[in-house]
Amino acid sequence: MSRLSRKPGPAAFDRDYFERYYADRRTRVASDDQSILVCSFIHAYAAFLDWPVRSILDIGAGTGRFMRPLKKLWRDVRYTGVDVSDYACHAYGWQHKSILDLDRGRYDLVLCHDVLQYLDRKDAIAGIERLAARCRGLLYFSAMTSEDWRDNVDRARSDRDVHLRSTRWYRRELGRHFRNLGGGVFAQRDAPIVTFALHAFD
Ligand SMILES: C[S@@+](CC[C@H](N)C(=O)[O-])C[C@H]1O[C@@H](n2cnc3c(N)ncnc32)[C@H](O)[C@@H]1O
Repeated sequence: MSRLSRKPGPAAFDRDYFERYYADRRTRVASDDQSILVCSFIHAYAAFLDWPVRSILDIGAGTGRFMRPLKKLWRDVRYTGVDVSDYACHAYGWQHKSILDLDRGRYDLVLCHDVLQYLDRKDAIAGIERLAARCRGLLYFSAMTSEDWRDNVDRARSDRDVHLRSTRWYRRELGRHFRNLGGGVFAQRDAPIVTFALHAFD
């Protein structure tokens, strides 16, 4: 079996995985400062859109690097994290669930950051449908695409053991349910979020 066709599963998301990609300064993919910047951006964009955020669902919450800054920015927010990793659920208190099991609740802001590249095509489509069902406002979304792997990422710090799909594929599948507002921020198509025409890409 090639590295690409390995089906990543919960067992892969163990202590070593999180140590390598999120803790060890020599190999980590993101710093605390970057997490704070991303959260400040999401918070400012939601405020600009006049979209109140009282509930957040963080899917594949990992080490919780978005939770700390977001809870500082939205002090009274209800924050729910889910993850398939036994390690992360035990260490950070998340609900032990896959994105595919999210069958209830709607949230003002849903985060799904760097998770869907671990799902095969069929599950990724089902995952995007879950995102749309659980989101009543804004989505912050990212997944490494084949173009990212080719042009953008630091390969030494990025997990290649994933299902690479094109940027176009993600735009098409997300576009069935969300408007792309740029910077990783999407608005659920049914949400009463008004934007200037040029601020949304479709
Ligand atoms: C690259 S890490 C990203 C962690 C976090 N979202 C971040 O950006 O820092 C991928 C995370 O997705 C989780 N994950 C993988 N498959 C999942 C699934 N089907 N449902 C929910 N979480 C999943 C992993 O356990 C891991 O915590």
